[in-house]
Amino acid sequence: MKSLRKGIGNRKDVESYYDNWASSYDKTLYKWNYKAPLQSVNILKKYIKTKPKFILDLACGTGLFIHEFLKVYPDCICDGADISGKILDLSKRNGKYRYLYKKSFENKIKITNKYNVVSLIGAMTYCNNHQSLFKLVSYYLSKNGYFIFTHRLDLWRKSKFDSILEKLIDFDSIYISRPLNYLPKNEDFASEIKIRIVLLKKK
Ligand SMILES: C[S@@+](CC[C@H](N)C(=O)[O-])C[C@H]1O[C@@H](n2cnc3c(N)ncnc32)[C@H](O)[C@@H]1O
Repeated sequence: MKSLRKGIGNRKDVESYYDNWASSYDKTLYKWNYKAPLQSVNILKKYIKTKPKFILDLACGTGLFIHEFLKVYPDCICDGADISGKILDLSKRNGKYRYLYKKSFENKIKITNKYNVVSLIGAMTYCNNHQSLFKLVSYYLSKNGYFIFTHRLDLWRKSKFDSILEKLIDFDSIYISRPLNYLPKNEDFASEIKIRIVLLKKK
């Protein structure tokens, strides 16, 4: 079951899948016209009024999102976390992060400060327990901090994600995008698999 669209397998399988993909990840995503990092930053730019001082980028990958983010917020201190060691080696080399944690976003990170923004771009697919993820993110965020994430529409429907969002008591929903193409130049995804970008604000 090694398919980005249908599923890669358990957490260990996902880790080795991304380890094996690491060296060509950026090139492939560029080829597939992956725009979620840039689109997510544009949403932050539009809705966030004060410049964030600290961001925690969950499932940070090689840093495609943080690369775009730093163009808008060059002074923000960026920490990242990912389960793939090989992917983290690359983000380390990119030099954009202060701390990099080899950690699943489903496990608690021992943070040294609270964050103004937490991001999870292109990785909600791998979340097994949304409630517990939202609880962790709420713990990482300072009051009035933002959580920005993407989620695939097919999986959104399958997990009745609307009702998960409605039940959140720690967050206000600030923005939910219309369905957007995810990987338009990947033939498996093309225009069939869409995502939404969601911005929540911690109460
Ligand atoms: C499609 S990539 C997105 C990476 C980056 N956010 C970006 O936009 O380029 C998915 C990333 O999620 C990571 N990942 C998958 N499951 C994870 C988990 N449970 N905890 C942390 N990272 C995970 C993978 O290793 C991979 O780097």
